[in-house]
Amino acid sequence: MKGSGDTKSLNLSDWKETSEAEYGRLFTIIAPELHPFVEDHAALGKLMDKVRTGYSREVYENALKRIEEELEHHFREEERLILRFLSNHIPADDAGPVFKLKQEHDIIRSRYLEAAQLFAEHNEHSRERLVQKMNMLAYLLKKHIEKEDHYLFPMAGAILTQEEKRSIARELSGGHPSDELEPKE
Ligand SMILES: [Fe+2]
Ligand SMILES: [Fe+2]
Repeated sequence: MKGSGDTKSLNLSDWKETSEAEYGRLFTIIAPELHPFVEDHAALGKLMDKVRTGYSREVYENALKRIEEELEHHFREEERLILRFLSNHIPADDAGPVFKLKQEHDIIRSRYLEAAQLFAEHNEHSRERLVQKMNMLAYLLKKHIEKEDHYLFPMAGAILTQEEKRSIARELSGGHPSDELEPKE
């Protein structure tokens, strides 16, 4: 693996466009309580496909706004609900899926801040750097989404209890506030 930040030297060629057929299959293997997260992924994945087509002020602006919202809501809800419940079953805070996925969230948060700052200040001299940053951010998000859709969610659906999954569904639909969300000993 090459050094971080060196976007030119990373191989970003394994890009795969988000497809309806793939999501059609995913919805059949992921517990329904987790589907709202998967729906967010499908929409964000399509937007990242657009980002990867090259510089567009409008697309970048829209993508950054949308990513900011995802960081505020989707990422936080994943951590607060899925990862928190998963830690009832895999209780380790320095190794394993909960640790690694939170770490990825933090990396994406910091890459987003860098890209948003560069976007706000960019001119024609820094445009190439901006394109690299946006491509890298899109790549990290796409790979993260792929990991969650194909590994985390199908497995979380199998590992979490019915009660935990019901709590997730209630929380996502704006239902109960949440002392019932305290992790079980
Ligand atoms: Fe995530
Ligand atoms: Fe996610």
